Amino acid sequence: MKDLVEKIAQKRRNDFPIITGNSHLIYLDHAATSQKPQEVINALKTYYCSQNANVHRGAHQLSAIATKEFEHARKLTSNFINSNNEKEIIFTRNATEAINLVAYTWGNSELQKDDEILLSLMEHHSNIVPWQIIAKQKKCKISYINIDQNGKLDLDDFRKKLSHKTKLVSLVHVSNTLGCCNPIEEISHLAHKKGSLVLLDACQSLAHKIVDIKKLGVDFLAGSSHKLCGPTGIGFLWGKEEILEKIPPFLGGGEMIDEVFEDRSTWANLPHKFEAGTPAIGEAIGMGVALNYLQSIGLNEIHNYEKELTKYLFHQLEQIDGLNILGPSPNIQPDRGPLATFHIKGIHSNDIAELLDNSNICIRSGHHCCQPLHRFYEIKSTARASLSFTSTPHEIDCLTEELKSIIAFLKKNS
Ligand code: ALA
Repeated sequence: MKDLVEKIAQKRRNDFPIITGNSHLIYLDHAATSQKPQEVINALKTYYCSQNANVHRGAHQLSAIATKEFEHARKLTSNFINSNNEKEIIFTRNATEAINLVAYTWGNSELQKDDEILLSLMEHHSNIVPWQIIAKQKKCKISYINIDQNGKLDLDDFRKKLSHKTKLVSLVHVSNTLGCCNPIEEISHLAHKKGSLVLLDACQSLAHKIVDIKKLGVDFLAGSSHKLCGPTGIGFLWGKEEILEKIPPFLGGGEMIDEVFEDRSTWANLPHKFEAGTPAIGEAIGMGVALNYLQSIGLNEIHNYEKELTKYLFHQLEQIDGLNILGPSPNIQPDRGPLATFHIKGIHSNDIAELLDNSNICIRSGHHCCQPLHRFYEIKSTARASLSFTSTPHEIDCLTEELKSIIAFLKKNS
């Protein structure tokens, strides 16, 4: 692993001003949001300092430049997931908005009473709540696929719950809490055989491995820029052109229309039909640069390095007495996500996170927007350390050493 640390992590750490500017920072909260490389920060600065204009409307040259850069970002996003059809990329504020877009448009037009939506117990609230809202309106049923004792999706339960009533299977690719990677190819295949569509929440996979919509066979995919080394405030929905053509717009307003009459309007072509109002132009351009940046490192290279690092993270955490990790071990599922979510009996995860923060170690604590999953494990809160290609074994050593002394301190004083 030493070679990989030098080739990937040490080399790339220099790209991140937040790391070079703060030698004490140990940031292990990449699953919450990634740090931003200088290239992305520069792209935002360039846009706001020399290219800022509204897109698709101005007759002036500045608007033409902004439009070209903005649409180029769409092309980069499309290529990143192997869609090769930029009309299928809808810019949204984030992945949550992308899922809501499908719920409100596809859900409203296609769901009928007694139809079923199949989710899993490990979903983030952003892939539960929009479906609850639409299911209530349309009188549909939501079912949840169970997980097994190793924190993996229970495929037998999936097969049992999938039926001709299922209209959508909406699943996370890599769980933000368990870290497991779900077998989406198989799930898509089975779902399609029953006539159901598949939506993939790819927030925790896109920055860590190659995500190819053709290979996965899904119908929709939601992603967020801020988890991909890009700016906040921008994300995207990818959807199959024939489905997006068929479903109604999401928000109404400027940009998304073809013609407006006093009593009715007609819609713009894809993707603009779904992009009402002035979009987050600089942020979309920044996301495109971030995707290029990740590809310049290589998603396979990132994945291979993070796989080794995750094994090391588990190995070190497993040495700590009384610490329980949720989700499959990398020995059972090597292609899992680079994070470890854990709890220690008798100690609140918020105390752990706060005390680690005193040593400049940033992790996340709480329910990670996965309350049904935490209820399944009968725990309210967990701590989570999440890695990226800039993380190092040294940072993991600091985390585990600090954890040991925090646990000893809290147990002594309890
Ligand atoms: N969904 C993000 C996380 O898991 C915010 O932390």
